[in-house]
Amino acid sequence: MTLLLGIDVGTSAVKALVSDERGNIIRTASAPLDLSTPRAGWSEQDPGQWWEATVAAVRALVADPDVRPAEIGAIGLSGQMHGLVLLGPAARPPCPQALRPAILWNDQRSAPQCTHIENLAGGRAALVRACGNAALPGFTAPKILWVREHEPDAFRQSSLILLPKDYVRFCLTGQATQDVSDASGTMLLDASTRRWNHTLLSLLGLDPGLFPPVLESASPAGSLCGEAAAELGLPPGIVVAAGAGDNMAGAIGAGVVEPGQCLATIGTSGVIYTHSPTPLADLGQSGAAPSGRTHLFLAGDGDRTRPGGYSVTGCTLSAGGSLQWLHDSLFPEVSYDQLLADAAAVAPGAEGLFFLPHLTGERAPHPDPHARGAFVGLSLRHRRGHLVRAVLEGVTFTMAQILDIQRSLGLNPPPVIRLGGGGARAQLWRQMQADVYNTPVALTNTEDGPALGAAILAGVALGAWTSVPDACRAVVRETARITPERPERYAPARAVFDRLYHDLRPAFAELSQL
Ligand code: XUL
Repeated sequence: MTLLLGIDVGTSAVKALVSDERGNIIRTASAPLDLSTPRAGWSEQDPGQWWEATVAAVRALVADPDVRPAEIGAIGLSGQMHGLVLLGPAARPPCPQALRPAILWNDQRSAPQCTHIENLAGGRAALVRACGNAALPGFTAPKILWVREHEPDAFRQSSLILLPKDYVRFCLTGQATQDVSDASGTMLLDASTRRWNHTLLSLLGLDPGLFPPVLESASPAGSLCGEAAAELGLPPGIVVAAGAGDNMAGAIGAGVVEPGQCLATIGTSGVIYTHSPTPLADLGQSGAAPSGRTHLFLAGDGDRTRPGGYSVTGCTLSAGGSLQWLHDSLFPEVSYDQLLADAAAVAPGAEGLFFLPHLTGERAPHPDPHARGAFVGLSLRHRRGHLVRAVLEGVTFTMAQILDIQRSLGLNPPPVIRLGGGGARAQLWRQMQADVYNTPVALTNTEDGPALGAAILAGVALGAWTSVPDACRAVVRETARITPERPERYAPARAVFDRLYHDLRPAFAELSQL
């Protein structure tokens, strides 16, 4: 039997799984990661810890007698997107020391660099027209400029720029590459050529030599080197596929690879991901709306022989992260099951309590690093269940606003939305999503989205399937559909919610100066 190993370098943990060649999962394992916030709005991790967690997770997998290391035919990778990893010329596998901690996808420090990029490009609208995306602090390019400005020594010593999963691939193979899907989240890739955007690189004064070659996600990208193999307890020489950003790998794991298919994922972030056969940028059609509220990224469904498609993605930064914040800061002694049961006992609308989930600034639907979280409408009547319900509703309304933007770009409303991430596990949140999106939502047989997507990419790189869509058709099926029950019950609360961010925006801007 040939086995496939999928590794997802997440924000809270590295998750790994082994599947057979038909995508049946044999064993999963994970190892936790620390997150550091040295200042408000900053978010960093030590890349070395990604490797240590990868080793721990893979060792846990191969400790299972059903997982015979000699049978592992290929390794695939998925990872948190946009994080900046800087390596110097002396970097060698299996665990090179990065020149500074990685700056992550939810870090907001680079707002001034975003303004600088947009000014260089002739304004936000011009930048979106030229490269499909606004400059947002989450993306990698403004983080690079921040390091160049604030830590010139680290920047001068840098010879290689990688994303989180590409750092782990470097550890595995000793070779530097990026895949097109994750690279599109740097904002430095040209979506039309699927290559680095040399015009933008030269506008920003960045040396193209810092960026490794890009490959389609299901292409082989190297083989497991001896040093890494010894640490992982695997034989050397195993094929390592290029892999994909976690949203693209998650889409593959949920079978979202055909035009118009849509995935709503609630993990730390909340993402509405719609597969598109053509590049579709948010040009802010209505005139009043800012452009660049959704992101144009490349999908991870290409391989050595054919390019993949595109995705229109909107990412709200604190989705499951908001629920986790509520739990950890106010009710650490209460189980999540209990919190959800409390929320289920409260009627839709949480009796006039609202929660804005912009705890780490925001990207979509409001590209605003200064946006903040807020409870609005608190009264003496409100109890724990109201707070939890308001958080779930605030996140879901925000995701629905992203869907609305996607519709305004001309994407047809999806007939069904597949659900992914931890948010898909709670019955209350599933039904709420169906009602608020006013669209049936579906669960699939594949709960481990990104890690399974990574294993599928490994399988295609190995030739186990002829293409990523073929693999998805063979592996992924819907197991349940939840239809909207009474969507109208959310309408009054949604109408108020839609105004709140705009009403509070001036206060958020002032707060950011305090
Ligand atoms: C997407 C994004 C997040 C991270 C989470 O643009 O920034 O979803 O990929 O891991």
